[in-house]
Amino acid sequence: MKPDSYYITTPIYYVNDKPHSGHAYTTVLADVLARYQRMFGRDTWFLTGTDEHGQKVQEAAAKAGIPPQAHVDRTVQRFVEAWKRLEIRNDDFIRTTEPRHKVIVQEILQDLFDRGEIYRDEYDGWYCVSDERFFTEKDLAAGKCPECGRDVQRVREANYFFKMSQYQDWLVEYIQAHPGFIQPDFRRNETLGFLRKPLQDLCISRPKSRLAWGIELPFDRDYVTYVWFDALVNYISAIGYRRDDARFARWWPAIHLIGKDILTTHTVYWPCMLKAMGVAMPKTIFAHGWWLSGATKMSKSLGNVVNPIDMLERYGVDPFRYFLMAEMAMGQDASFTEEAFIRRYNADLANDLGNLLNRVVSMTGKYCDGRLPAPEPGAFQQGPAAALLAQAAAAAAALKTAVENFTLQAGVAQVIEVVRATNKFIETRQPWTQARAADRGPLHTTLYAAAEALRICAGLLMPLMPGKMTDLRAALGMENPMTVNPDELTKSEVLKPGAQVAAPGALFPRIDAPTPAAETPPPQKVPASGTVGNPEGVLAYEDFAKVQLRTAKIMSAEPIEGAVKLLKLSVLMGDERRQIVAGIALYYKPEQLIGKTVVVVSNLAPIKLRGVESQGMLLAASKGECLRLVTVDGDLSSGAIVK
Ligand code: ME8
Ligand code: MG
Repeated sequence: MKPDSYYITTPIYYVNDKPHSGHAYTTVLADVLARYQRMFGRDTWFLTGTDEHGQKVQEAAAKAGIPPQAHVDRTVQRFVEAWKRLEIRNDDFIRTTEPRHKVIVQEILQDLFDRGEIYRDEYDGWYCVSDERFFTEKDLAAGKCPECGRDVQRVREANYFFKMSQYQDWLVEYIQAHPGFIQPDFRRNETLGFLRKPLQDLCISRPKSRLAWGIELPFDRDYVTYVWFDALVNYISAIGYRRDDARFARWWPAIHLIGKDILTTHTVYWPCMLKAMGVAMPKTIFAHGWWLSGATKMSKSLGNVVNPIDMLERYGVDPFRYFLMAEMAMGQDASFTEEAFIRRYNADLANDLGNLLNRVVSMTGKYCDGRLPAPEPGAFQQGPAAALLAQAAAAAAALKTAVENFTLQAGVAQVIEVVRATNKFIETRQPWTQARAADRGPLHTTLYAAAEALRICAGLLMPLMPGKMTDLRAALGMENPMTVNPDELTKSEVLKPGAQVAAPGALFPRIDAPTPAAETPPPQKVPASGTVGNPEGVLAYEDFAKVQLRTAKIMSAEPIEGAVKLLKLSVLMGDERRQIVAGIALYYKPEQLIGKTVVVVSNLAPIKLRGVESQGMLLAASKGECLRLVTVDGDLSSGAIVK
């Protein structure tokens, strides 16, 4: 048993879906944390994989006209390929259709059944196919799935149940006694809130007559296992649970990285399952926020996903990884836009980091024949060079803490601060003036100290941008640029004076893109495929299909100060509330609007009008002086798709 090992997991993604930037985020984050731990010398294991059973897979395979296994063997490649291209260095990839996993799920089920933790009963309730979750009548939100808002199916049949309810009190106490167990804090409170209602037993079976694509119950061949009971077990089947005790003990307990969408399954179902099995609890379940497209979650079913492969083909894998890590504070939501990407890229990478390398390399070339000069003796004992290196060493320590505390963004920001401080150090010391003095000592100290600070920053950013930081360290003349020795991150005078410094070419060339002016909507990009062969002004069907129209109910309306034509509306679209600014004040009084069901373009990027954010657009018909809102004919709940 190695007490200090580090085992990190991602959710196993539904194999049916195409990886998008939301999946990429969790996987890159786990990869970055694992790379840091390996760099700090910790015994590290990083697991990801795919969730391959369930109704959606069965339906997709039937639609494709091939057996489910052949279907998943094909679709899993999209994940394998995407992770390869994103430089993900996972130690294992588990698929729930692998024998090594299925047999363990069956052994666990048999054991729990033998010990009376699982019983048979009549089930009567609701099922959401999309989330693969059961709900009671009370759980439903206005008759829909409380998680995703989709339709649910009525299910009435005999099934097997896991006695989860008996663990409720224990779980509440466990969570309260272990503050680090569920993170961030507000997610922990969310789970505790959920546990204030009585916990139900968990239905863990599906009759084969309705769903055949799953792991057969070992004690009743007419049933397969409920996908979540199957999927969660991946975290232990992959590391030798019930097969290799030494291996299991080396890695367990895990740190589970998940998105907030799957909090309940991980912080309620899974701990109860482990408790029943007699397995120790995970170290931490960390639920991060969502990447939003505009104001809504990026998800396949909403059709607003950003393809990570497109991003890395356009901008390179390292800048994309950097953006994902630097832009999102772990735990919070963040908005994914190309503008935000370009802004951050230009600010941090092109202007600060890339520019610093350019300066060091070009001035070393100009003043020292491309060889790293030796600093003045004692330069790192006191004075500005020593202060700069002390700041770099402090950033190294802060980053280590940030990795432990799941505040990566703050740690990375501190490294970029050191880059900025180094640029400032150069500006203050003016090597171009120092170069004219008879005593070259101060010039040499300036160049060497800047190179040293840059070396440390590059080492600290290596887990985020392995390719680019290797190039950077090679440009500083390091012999082993790929391998970062953690001891070197808090030391000065590591670079060898006399080493050949070479230009790597522009590391992060600036991206020039017009930033959309305030109050004008961002330019809509029409993909070439949609326009080829179409006469001007004619829309290809696939372009039209990108426009999402939904019904929304107006809940409130108010004027906007200083804008005579605008009204600020609050509308309800299904479970989602949105704020919309509409130019209809000359035609409607606020009180005339309340309660109306209107049609909204729901996937429009949010814009600010008179400083007020508008998350969508109302449809209206107008002619001459007259304007009327488009509404629906008859009663229809809000959030309905218009097509
Ligand atoms: O839920 N922003 O799989 P899944 C950030 N198979 N992260 C996102 C995201 C977004 N917009 N969209 C998805 C399942 N993710 C189950 C898991 S685990 C035993 C079984 C990420 O394919 C995030 O990590 O729907 C989220 O939790 C996960 O993808 C859901 O992946
Ligand atoms: Mg999902």
